[in-house]
Amino acid sequence: MNIEWSKLGFGFIQTRSNIRFNFKNGQWSEGKLHSDYDITMSIAAQVFHYGQACFEGQKAFMGKDGKVRIFRPVENARRQNATMRHLLMPEFPEKIYVEAMKKVVRDNIDYVPPYGTGGAMYIRPVAFGTGPTIGVAPSDEYEFIIMAMPVGPYYKGGIKPVDAWVINDYDRAAPLGTGTIKCAGNYAASLLPSKIAKDNHCPIPLFTDPKEHRYIDEFGTSNFIAVSKDGKYVTPKSGSILPSITNKSLMQLAKDMGMPVECRPILKSELPGFAEVGACGTAVVLTPVGRIYDNGEVISYDTEAIGPVLKKLYDEMTGIQYGEIADRHGWMVEV
Ligand SMILES: Cc1ncc(COP(=O)(O)O)c(C=O)c1O
Repeated sequence: MNIEWSKLGFGFIQTRSNIRFNFKNGQWSEGKLHSDYDITMSIAAQVFHYGQACFEGQKAFMGKDGKVRIFRPVENARRQNATMRHLLMPEFPEKIYVEAMKKVVRDNIDYVPPYGTGGAMYIRPVAFGTGPTIGVAPSDEYEFIIMAMPVGPYYKGGIKPVDAWVINDYDRAAPLGTGTIKCAGNYAASLLPSKIAKDNHCPIPLFTDPKEHRYIDEFGTSNFIAVSKDGKYVTPKSGSILPSITNKSLMQLAKDMGMPVECRPILKSELPGFAEVGACGTAVVLTPVGRIYDNGEVISYDTEAIGPVLKKLYDEMTGIQYGEIADRHGWMVEV
């Protein structure tokens, strides 16, 4: 193993092992560590045809004290089970889920970026239907795998605001569809709108509500948060966005700081009135948004730096994750 921690980005790296479970005859097997990254399955596997596939994302951090801890893993277990229920996949026991996350991180502990490098161990659970299925139906067999790999800090050389492109011609999910769950199909559907954003020099797409396109939904892989001019934390309430674990945690930290927190429908027309806007999620923690492009209109925030309120929230969150600040809510789980 020869990793230059300072050069790590956010991408796939093969590590020592992944842990695998399979579901057969109505029950999940014991987990086994595998050193290979390949899998053999039928060309008729359900996942290839009818898309029973879902995943999660979380990070483990090397703390200041040299201990490795995972951020709120039970939240991922719960969210993946909510996704599984929606896709008619068999739920996975929460306790075993968290233990499996710990086990794969422990087995790859030398791949966890050292404290001070700004990196983390990205944990990726994935589940899919493997049973041969030709008529549209749920699979009777599944694979559940957790892999883990080191990722670099999202911000190299300081936090820089990113620009967002409002998607008006596509939706990532339907009003009563799969927007609130983390199924693979949502991401396939977001590839083209994300490309449109990138082609317009915006790293992130901003989706609006699929019913009326008047309200803010979320970014491609992160939730939308804003700080109002009177100092409130504002984030969309919508039936078509993913309930972000990062957003839930930032809302708590904002409350701890005495900020009023509003989770409510946010009209697109409110955008120019916000003091700060950010995107939050596991990969980026909290990225400030510099400009939002919407149908020829440009809404500008601070395009040079993260705003003071989002910076405070960012510092608090990363402080807890790296063990620099007391974990007062019991979010960090030692591996
Ligand atoms: C569509 C979408 N929204 C929001 C998020 C942020 O969620 P979390 O904070 O749990 O990573 C993600 C990433 O998982 C995502 O894919």
